[in-house]
Amino acid sequence: MDRRFAVPHAATCRILVGSGLERGLPAVVGALDPDGVVVAFDRAVARIGERIAVALNARAALSIDDAEAQKRLDAVGRLADQLHEAGATRATVLVAVGGGSVTDLVGFVGSIYLRGMPTVFCPTTTLAMCDAAIGGKNGVDHNGLKNRLGTIRQPDAIVCDIDWLRTLPPDLVREGLVEVVKKAFVLDASAFAELEGLAPALAALDPAALTRAVDIAVELKMGVVLADEREAGRRRALNAGHTIGHAIESLAAGAIRHGRAVAIGLVAECRAADVPAAIVDRLLRLLTALGVASDLPRAFADAAALWELARRDKKAVRGSVPMFVPRALGEGVVVELTPESLAQALA
Ligand SMILES: NC(=O)c1ccc[n+]([C@@H]2O[C@H](COP(=O)([O-])OP(=O)(O)OC[C@H]3O[C@@H](n4cnc5c(N)ncnc54)[C@H](O)[C@@H]3O)[C@@H](O)[C@H]2O)c1
Ligand SMILES: [Zn+2]
Repeated sequence: MDRRFAVPHAATCRILVGSGLERGLPAVVGALDPDGVVVAFDRAVARIGERIAVALNARAALSIDDAEAQKRLDAVGRLADQLHEAGATRATVLVAVGGGSVTDLVGFVGSIYLRGMPTVFCPTTTLAMCDAAIGGKNGVDHNGLKNRLGTIRQPDAIVCDIDWLRTLPPDLVREGLVEVVKKAFVLDASAFAELEGLAPALAALDPAALTRAVDIAVELKMGVVLADEREAGRRRALNAGHTIGHAIESLAAGAIRHGRAVAIGLVAECRAADVPAAIVDRLLRLLTALGVASDLPRAFADAAALWELARRDKKAVRGSVPMFVPRALGEGVVVELTPESLAQALA
């Protein structure tokens, strides 16, 4: 026999964004008809995590220390042990409370424990609300390489309570917003214009503006995730700014955080691809209005070192280093990065 079976994978993912949503979590989780609940949270947000565990009458509340360093296979094993001790079944709902490190790790465990249990994400950073927690990619680092082991599986629900951002340092709140700027920049000109209008309120961390920005990010990312089922390749839009951005983040080894590295990467990729100055100016103005620096510190403006890192990026195959840049605002195309265009971008 030689037949192709189109296997449907129907999954619905409910996403809520707004202030004061924590109160509604018992109803959201209850709608999944759970056989008990386990809550795993970043220790940095222990107060929120413990409160949620009490409200959900969780059978276990698991604290994860130093989330980013914990995104590893040994932490997967530990969480699996804790799920076993808690008597989790494949109908137990696993709730993750924290930034992208925690939703990646806990989402990965939830997608493989008993071949998958229902999961609910409660992202507590703008980066996780605008990107990491959305779209169903879960994973852990391995052999020092980021996100080497992973799965694609949608969580059953994602609850983005803007009030959870109150304890996040303001610079981190703002830098996480680069992920929504990135998507609007290459996918949706009217969303970009709306972000321009919201920028002063976003820089001031206004909850209504943050809610709207996360709404836009969710709509754009889920649009790409759903479209990608038919139109492979649109996910590339989500990598805008990340080809050079990741290289800068690696070279800076912790001195430049992800959001700012992507902001620098977006600008540098435009310059490398000769994107018209009028478009780059709007990007620069928006990033500045959001309070995110997008100039590359001289210490890291090393074209040869950045090229070596970009060439080894996981998106690079057969020697080609693709970038996704706007041809017009809100309309992206794939362009190849070369050592020459990278040097030009940094000049
Ligand atoms: N799965 C995906 O599609 C995807 C996409 C983008 C990024 N990611 C992953 O996301 C991770 C980055 O996410 P992140 O920026 O949220 O990082 P993070 O989870 O490491 O959080 C950043 C820091 O903020 C702390 N923190 C989190 N919430 C807080 C709060 N409300 N108040 C105070 N402190 C808080 C954390 O303890 C941590 O120190 C990376 O591991 C990256 O690989 C995944
Ligand atoms: Zn990113």
